[in-house]
Amino acid sequence: MTSSNHRQSDFAIDPVFLDRWSPRSFSGDAMSKNTLLTILEAAHWAPSASNYQPWRFVYALRGTDGFDRILSVLAESNQVWAKSASALIIIFSDMLSRKDDGSEPKPFRSHSFDAGAAWAMLALQAVYSGYYAHGMGGVDFDKAIDVLKVPPGYRAEAAVAIGKLADKNLLPEHLQAREIPSNRKPLSAVAFEGLFQST
Ligand SMILES: Cc1cc2nc3c(=O)[nH]c(=O)nc-3n(C[C@H](O)[C@H](O)[C@H](O)COP(=O)(O)O)c2cc1C
Repeated sequence: MTSSNHRQSDFAIDPVFLDRWSPRSFSGDAMSKNTLLTILEAAHWAPSASNYQPWRFVYALRGTDGFDRILSVLAESNQVWAKSASALIIIFSDMLSRKDDGSEPKPFRSHSFDAGAAWAMLALQAVYSGYYAHGMGGVDFDKAIDVLKVPPGYRAEAAVAIGKLADKNLLPEHLQAREIPSNRKPLSAVAFEGLFQST
Protein backbone atom coordinates (compact mmCIF):
# COMPACT_ATOMS: atom_id res chain seq x y z
CA MET A 1 0.00 0.00 0.00
CA THR A 2 1.22 3.50 -0.79
CA SER A 3 -0.34 6.75 0.42
CA SER A 4 0.41 10.12 -1.14
CA ASN A 5 -1.43 13.20 -2.35
CA HIS A 6 -4.68 12.17 -0.50
CA ARG A 7 -4.64 8.92 -2.48
CA GLN A 8 -4.03 5.33 -1.44
CA SER A 9 -3.10 2.36 -3.61
CA ASP A 10 -3.84 -1.27 -2.64
CA PHE A 11 -0.32 -2.38 -3.52
CA ALA A 12 2.96 -0.55 -2.88
CA ILE A 13 3.88 1.56 -5.89
CA ASP A 14 6.22 4.46 -6.44
CA PRO A 15 4.53 7.62 -5.02
CA VAL A 16 4.96 9.40 -8.37
CA PHE A 17 1.95 7.44 -9.70
CA LEU A 18 -0.24 8.97 -6.98
CA ASP A 19 1.41 12.39 -7.12
CA ARG A 20 0.56 12.75 -10.81
CA TRP A 21 -2.91 14.18 -11.18
CA SER A 22 -4.75 16.61 -13.42
CA PRO A 23 -5.22 19.98 -11.76
CA ARG A 24 -6.81 22.92 -13.54
CA SER A 25 -5.50 25.76 -11.41
CA PHE A 26 -2.23 26.76 -13.04
CA SER A 27 -0.05 29.72 -12.04
CA GLY A 28 0.70 31.08 -15.50
CA ASP A 29 4.44 31.03 -14.72
CA ALA A 30 6.84 31.06 -17.65
CA MET A 31 8.48 27.72 -18.38
CA SER A 32 11.86 27.31 -20.07
CA LYS A 33 11.98 25.60 -23.43
CA ASN A 34 14.60 23.30 -21.96
CA THR A 35 12.13 22.06 -19.33
CA LEU A 36 9.40 21.52 -21.91
CA LEU A 37 11.76 19.61 -24.17
CA THR A 38 12.88 17.51 -21.17
CA ILE A 39 9.25 16.51 -20.61
CA LEU A 40 8.80 15.71 -24.32
CA GLU A 41 12.06 13.77 -24.34
CA ALA A 42 10.67 11.46 -21.63
CA ALA A 43 7.52 10.98 -23.71
CA HIS A 44 9.62 10.09 -26.72
CA TRP A 45 11.24 7.19 -24.81
CA ALA A 46 7.91 5.38 -24.64
CA PRO A 47 7.73 1.88 -26.08
CA SER A 48 5.93 1.37 -29.41
CA ALA A 49 5.15 -1.50 -31.76
CA SER A 50 8.20 -2.22 -33.93
CA ASN A 51 9.75 0.88 -32.31
CA TYR A 52 7.78 2.86 -34.87
CA GLN A 53 7.42 5.91 -32.54
CA PRO A 54 4.14 7.14 -34.08
CA TRP A 55 3.67 10.04 -31.60
CA ARG A 56 4.04 13.61 -32.81
CA PHE A 57 3.89 16.69 -30.60
CA VAL A 58 3.08 20.27 -31.51
CA TYR A 59 4.11 22.34 -28.50
CA ALA A 60 4.05 26.00 -27.55
CA LEU A 61 5.23 28.02 -24.58
CA ARG A 62 3.03 30.59 -22.91
CA GLY A 63 3.27 34.06 -24.46
CA THR A 64 3.87 32.83 -28.01
CA ASP A 65 1.61 32.84 -31.07
CA GLY A 66 1.75 29.04 -31.00
CA PHE A 67 0.24 29.03 -27.49
CA ASP A 68 -2.71 31.15 -28.64
CA ARG A 69 -3.12 28.90 -31.68
CA ILE A 70 -3.37 25.74 -29.58
CA LEU A 71 -5.57 27.48 -27.00
CA SER A 72 -7.98 28.44 -29.81
CA VAL A 73 -8.66 24.80 -30.71
CA LEU A 74 -9.57 23.76 -27.13
CA ALA A 75 -13.19 23.52 -26.06
CA GLU A 76 -14.26 26.67 -24.27
CA SER A 77 -14.71 24.67 -21.05
CA ASN A 78 -11.00 23.85 -21.23
CA GLN A 79 -9.83 27.28 -22.42
CA VAL A 80 -11.18 28.78 -19.19
CA TRP A 81 -8.42 27.16 -17.16
CA ALA A 82 -5.84 26.05 -19.75
CA LYS A 83 -5.17 29.69 -20.63
CA SER A 84 -3.11 29.84 -17.40
CA ALA A 85 -0.87 26.91 -18.37
CA SER A 86 2.86 27.39 -18.94
CA ALA A 87 2.81 25.27 -22.09
CA LEU A 88 0.27 23.62 -24.37
CA ILE A 89 0.73 20.55 -26.54
CA ILE A 90 -1.35 18.67 -29.06
CA ILE A 91 -0.43 15.01 -29.46
CA PHE A 92 -0.88 13.40 -32.88
CA SER A 93 -0.24 9.87 -34.01
CA ASP A 94 0.92 8.55 -37.36
CA MET A 95 -1.83 6.16 -38.50
CA LEU A 96 0.31 4.70 -41.27
CA SER A 97 3.44 2.64 -41.34
CA ARG A 98 5.61 4.32 -43.96
CA LYS A 99 8.70 2.59 -45.29
CA ASP A 100 11.59 4.22 -47.17
CA ASP A 101 11.43 1.59 -49.95
CA GLY A 102 8.68 3.38 -51.89
CA SER A 103 6.03 0.81 -50.91
CA GLU A 104 2.46 1.90 -50.19
CA PRO A 105 1.99 3.01 -46.53
CA LYS A 106 -0.06 0.51 -44.51
CA PRO A 107 -2.43 1.13 -41.57
CA PHE A 108 -0.49 0.96 -38.30
CA ARG A 109 -2.71 -0.73 -35.71
CA SER A 110 -1.24 0.58 -32.45
CA HIS A 111 -0.76 4.25 -33.32
CA SER A 112 -3.16 5.50 -30.63
CA PHE A 113 -2.04 2.96 -28.03
CA ASP A 114 1.60 3.99 -28.51
CA ALA A 115 0.79 7.71 -28.42
CA GLY A 116 -1.06 7.03 -25.15
CA ALA A 117 2.06 5.42 -23.73
CA ALA A 118 4.01 8.56 -24.66
CA TRP A 119 1.39 10.74 -22.94
CA ALA A 120 1.78 8.70 -19.73
CA MET A 121 5.56 9.15 -19.79
CA LEU A 122 5.07 12.87 -20.40
CA ALA A 123 2.75 13.22 -17.41
CA LEU A 124 5.16 11.42 -15.08
CA GLN A 125 8.19 13.44 -16.23
CA ALA A 126 6.16 16.62 -15.66
CA VAL A 127 5.85 15.64 -11.98
CA TYR A 128 9.58 14.89 -11.74
CA SER A 129 10.21 18.34 -13.28
CA GLY A 130 7.96 20.08 -10.73
CA TYR A 131 4.96 20.52 -13.03
CA TYR A 132 1.56 18.93 -13.68
CA ALA A 133 0.22 17.82 -17.05
CA HIS A 134 -3.53 17.76 -17.73
CA GLY A 135 -4.75 15.80 -20.77
CA MET A 136 -7.74 17.06 -22.74
CA GLY A 137 -10.11 15.38 -25.18
CA GLY A 138 -12.29 18.48 -25.26
CA VAL A 139 -10.65 19.76 -28.42
CA ASP A 140 -11.86 20.72 -31.89
CA PHE A 141 -9.63 18.11 -33.52
CA ASP A 142 -10.56 19.02 -37.10
CA LYS A 143 -9.60 22.61 -36.39
CA ALA A 144 -6.34 21.42 -34.78
CA ILE A 145 -5.44 19.49 -37.94
CA ASP A 146 -6.23 22.59 -39.98
CA VAL A 147 -4.58 25.40 -38.01
CA LEU A 148 -1.50 23.36 -37.11
CA LYS A 149 -1.07 22.34 -40.76
CA VAL A 150 -1.02 18.60 -40.07
CA PRO A 151 -0.54 16.46 -43.21
CA PRO A 152 -2.96 13.59 -44.07
CA GLY A 153 -2.49 10.29 -42.24
CA TYR A 154 -2.12 11.71 -38.73
CA ARG A 155 -4.77 11.49 -36.01
CA ALA A 156 -5.14 14.26 -33.44
CA GLU A 157 -5.24 12.33 -30.14
CA ALA A 158 -5.39 14.81 -27.26
CA ALA A 159 -4.25 18.16 -25.98
CA VAL A 160 -2.12 18.65 -22.87
CA ALA A 161 -1.76 21.67 -20.60
CA ILE A 162 1.35 21.82 -18.41
CA GLY A 163 1.79 24.19 -15.52
CA LYS A 164 2.69 24.87 -11.91
CA LEU A 165 -0.03 24.37 -9.34
CA ALA A 166 -1.82 27.51 -8.13
CA ASP A 167 -4.48 28.22 -5.50
CA LYS A 168 -7.80 26.64 -6.47
CA ASN A 169 -9.60 29.88 -5.59
CA LEU A 170 -8.22 31.31 -8.84
CA LEU A 171 -10.55 28.97 -10.74
CA PRO A 172 -14.18 29.76 -11.62
CA GLU A 173 -16.40 28.55 -8.79
CA HIS A 174 -17.80 25.51 -10.64
CA LEU A 175 -14.29 24.10 -11.07
CA GLN A 176 -13.05 24.69 -7.53
CA ALA A 177 -14.91 21.68 -6.08
CA ARG A 178 -13.31 19.39 -8.71
CA GLU A 179 -9.78 20.54 -7.90
CA ILE A 180 -8.82 17.45 -5.91
CA PRO A 181 -6.90 14.28 -6.89
CA SER A 182 -9.44 11.66 -7.97
CA ASN A 183 -9.66 8.07 -6.78
CA ARG A 184 -9.70 4.77 -8.66
CA LYS A 185 -11.92 1.69 -8.82
CA PRO A 186 -10.52 -1.28 -6.91
CA LEU A 187 -7.81 -3.08 -8.91
CA SER A 188 -9.98 -6.22 -8.87
CA ALA A 189 -12.61 -4.40 -10.96
CA VAL A 190 -10.19 -3.97 -13.85
CA ALA A 191 -7.56 -6.73 -13.55
CA PHE A 192 -8.83 -10.29 -14.06
CA GLU A 193 -6.93 -13.52 -13.51
CA GLY A 194 -7.20 -15.92 -16.44
CA LEU A 195 -10.54 -14.86 -17.97
CA PHE A 196 -12.25 -11.57 -18.61
CA GLN A 197 -14.89 -10.82 -16.00
CA SER A 198 -17.80 -8.63 -17.00
CA THR A 199 -19.81 -7.03 -14.24
C1 LIG B 1 -7.56 11.46 -23.12
C2 LIG B 1 -7.99 12.34 -21.98
C3 LIG B 1 -8.94 13.32 -22.20
C4 LIG B 1 -9.31 14.18 -21.17
N1 LIG B 1 -10.14 15.24 -21.45
C5 LIG B 1 -10.32 16.21 -20.51
C6 LIG B 1 -10.96 17.42 -20.85
O1 LIG B 1 -11.34 17.68 -22.00
N2 LIG B 1 -11.12 18.35 -19.87
C7 LIG B 1 -10.67 18.16 -18.59
O2 LIG B 1 -10.83 19.04 -17.76
N3 LIG B 1 -10.03 17.00 -18.24
C8 LIG B 1 -9.83 16.03 -19.16
N4 LIG B 1 -9.13 14.90 -18.86
C9 LIG B 1 -8.65 14.66 -17.49
C10 LIG B 1 -9.38 13.47 -16.84
O3 LIG B 1 -10.67 13.85 -16.48
C11 LIG B 1 -8.55 12.95 -15.64
O4 LIG B 1 -7.33 12.45 -16.10
C12 LIG B 1 -9.29 11.85 -14.88
O5 LIG B 1 -10.43 12.36 -14.25
C13 LIG B 1 -8.41 11.20 -13.83
O6 LIG B 1 -7.96 12.16 -12.93
P1 LIG B 1 -6.40 12.40 -12.65
O7 LIG B 1 -5.72 12.61 -13.97
O8 LIG B 1 -6.35 13.65 -11.79
O9 LIG B 1 -5.85 11.20 -11.94
C14 LIG B 1 -8.75 14.02 -19.86
C15 LIG B 1 -7.81 13.01 -19.65
C16 LIG B 1 -7.42 12.19 -20.69
C17 LIG B 1 -6.35 11.14 -20.44
